[in-house]
Amino acid sequence: FNVPKAVNEPVKSYAPGSTERETVANAYKQMWNSQVEVPIYIGNEEIKTGDTKTMSAPHDHQHVVGIYHQANRELVEKAIASALEARAKWASLSWEHRASIFLKAAELLAGPYRAKINAATMIAQSKTIHQAEIDAACELIDFLRYNVEFMTQIYKDQPKSDSSMWNRVEYRPLEGFVYAITPFNFTAISGNLPSSAALMGNVVVWKPAATQVYSANVIMQVFKEAGLPNGVINMITGDSGMISDVILSNPHLAGVHFTGSTGVFNDIWKTIGQNIASYKTYPRIVGETGGKDFIIAHPSANAKQVATGISRGAFEFQGQKCSAASRVYLPKSLWADVKSFLEADLQSMKMGSPEDMSNFITAVISEASFDKLARYIDQAKNDSDAEVVIGGNYDKSKGYFIEPTVILTTNPKYATMETELFGPVVTIYVYEDAQWQEALKLVDETSEYALTGAVFSKCRYAIEEATVALQNAAGNFYINDKPTGAVVGMQPFGGARGSGTNDKAGSAQNLLRWASVRTIKETF
Ligand code: ALA
Repeated sequence: FNVPKAVNEPVKSYAPGSTERETVANAYKQMWNSQVEVPIYIGNEEIKTGDTKTMSAPHDHQHVVGIYHQANRELVEKAIASALEARAKWASLSWEHRASIFLKAAELLAGPYRAKINAATMIAQSKTIHQAEIDAACELIDFLRYNVEFMTQIYKDQPKSDSSMWNRVEYRPLEGFVYAITPFNFTAISGNLPSSAALMGNVVVWKPAATQVYSANVIMQVFKEAGLPNGVINMITGDSGMISDVILSNPHLAGVHFTGSTGVFNDIWKTIGQNIASYKTYPRIVGETGGKDFIIAHPSANAKQVATGISRGAFEFQGQKCSAASRVYLPKSLWADVKSFLEADLQSMKMGSPEDMSNFITAVISEASFDKLARYIDQAKNDSDAEVVIGGNYDKSKGYFIEPTVILTTNPKYATMETELFGPVVTIYVYEDAQWQEALKLVDETSEYALTGAVFSKCRYAIEEATVALQNAAGNFYINDKPTGAVVGMQPFGGARGSGTNDKAGSAQNLLRWASVRTIKETF
């Protein structure tokens, strides 16, 4: 298993005056002023059905950057057929050849495609250059590189044999095809879900989120240029309900690799349950879903560190990371200081188009998301048990802009302490310093989701208490840091409860879900 050692892609700074800043600014301009037409990728075909939808930028919703073609039922069937047709040859290709393709894709993203994938993510998902860089460039490159390393770790794991018998296990691809459903919020996740299954020898039908088709198209181009054989990953777009209906009722469905909402994931389980007798094999279901991620501070915590954790953890990428902090528990003694640091920090954050790289906050993804957030903010302005203490303004005339908003509540079960909002709104509940234990209990009891969480404390006993009390409340637990920004190869990512199956993205454990193990015993 002599493979190139996986290394994390260094994050570029895009400092004013740097070459990389100029390169990405040029790519942005060029893409902004041209129109892209995204086809459906099935086998060796790029199909334009004529049934199209427009793609526009959330920070300038009247500005159209292209169209994508939508599949009908027949084309979804065709995508499945194409995957199944490619299966035998792909599965028999040695792992080194599969690995080479994805390692090459990583190098293409690190070099010639870096500006394009970043600019696409800035335009279509309204990420700042820094958020695009850690996602679309670095995290995706890291997934591709580390998955190769994880795959070889898996393959190395063999059972015991002796002189009279040779036992071995083969990590075979699943018998059928994998359905990858990917979200808008991370270009890296979008690239990782189909490619991780494919790396393990599987064939894939991939449906990116409508709001991310623009950058998914660049990923598909990269996979093709890296030499991915036709039919191994087929990318289709169109009506989600119809696509899932066709795919989940196909007898050859062997796995679902999902990131998205808890509601949609629950529906997938139900549909698979209803169809269970019709499948050739039990489909593997792997999902990362919602979150209502927390920060809890102990009275010993450093107020400035807590405030920075909140402003970065809750507001980077407009709070649309599944890992974003959205409920905060602060001791009374810390609240005033945290509030003033937070005010200063948020005041320094500029809001606007990602094209101006000095902006920290840009637009939220869609009008539906904007309207939902605005409703909750208005509600908080009117409710007697809540008040908007920072921000609270919004404007959708040009783009879907919501100011970073802090709600203070006296009710630990207030709506915005419990409902996943997916936007730049964080709610704070202040507890009595003497009630630390009760506060921990409260966090755990109200964690319907369990994705990420953070504790801030200078007291080691308190850190230990939080680590134990919240052991099931977060799959990724951070001590004295914001709860976002997991790095592949360092912090395997995922959560349980309402947050998913916790099959850690960026880990051998995740890749194992895409292998069906055959045990062979040979007697001498
Ligand atoms: N991996 C992403 C993060 O940790 C979701 O923020």
